[in-house]
Amino acid sequence: MNGSGKLIVALDFSELDQAEKIVKKISGLVKIFKVGKELFTSAGPKAVEMIHRHNCRVFLDLKFHDIPNTVGAACESAARMGVFMLNVHALGGKTMMTSAVQAVHKAASETKTTPTKVLGVTVLTSLKDLDLREVGISKKLEKEVEDLAVLSQRCGLDGVVASGQEVKRIRKVTGNNFLIVAPGVRPTWAAHGDQKRIVTPKEAIQSGADFIVVGRPIIEHPQPLLAAEKILKEIE
Ligand code: C5P
Repeated sequence: MNGSGKLIVALDFSELDQAEKIVKKISGLVKIFKVGKELFTSAGPKAVEMIHRHNCRVFLDLKFHDIPNTVGAACESAARMGVFMLNVHALGGKTMMTSAVQAVHKAASETKTTPTKVLGVTVLTSLKDLDLREVGISKKLEKEVEDLAVLSQRCGLDGVVASGQEVKRIRKVTGNNFLIVAPGVRPTWAAHGDQKRIVTPKEAIQSGADFIVVGRPIIEHPQPLLAAEKILKEIE
């Protein structure tokens, strides 16, 4: 895969028009866009359709976490929209994750398409050890991340979302045949914003990430295409 296949741009907008402006500007170079809760809550499936109209793929970042039946049904709906990748919280448990995997396979066999990839969210990067204690998890955060990645793999998920700093550790326990998608990536020339545990695009790919997710350094750049080009040059 070349660099362009590894870069996912986060369309963190509330307005569909704003998102489409960015897609129009950079879709010659960037082929996967992330639709998160903000855009999906305001624009719904139209956001997915817009990206598909520009011949690009969608990572639907809605982090499903509910009873297995509900998550399975949501994943089936997403898979029927033709999204390339979606995610669920690994803390939703084994039955919930298995239900997600079964649902995307059911949709794929009925629509005769490639199954949507299902990723697990291990521990949100906004949480620290103390936050885990408060919700009754006494394990060290790093160990919890590793264990949830392994559980995700056992449930048949295609990979996990993980901060760039966790990639190496996860790779060690899951082996190579497992996708790792790393957000919170910052080129040296970009502002860090609220991201704290950051790595550069090059570091993330070198430590074993299959995809990097970049938002603000591209979507808030005065010249988004130039910013995307600079990042691709760094990871190629
Ligand atoms: O603008 P920025 O590059 O920080 O955007 C990163 C994107 O990845 C955002 O959509 C954010 O919600 C998402 N994300 C993250 N850290 C995680 C998981 C997702 O920054 N651990």
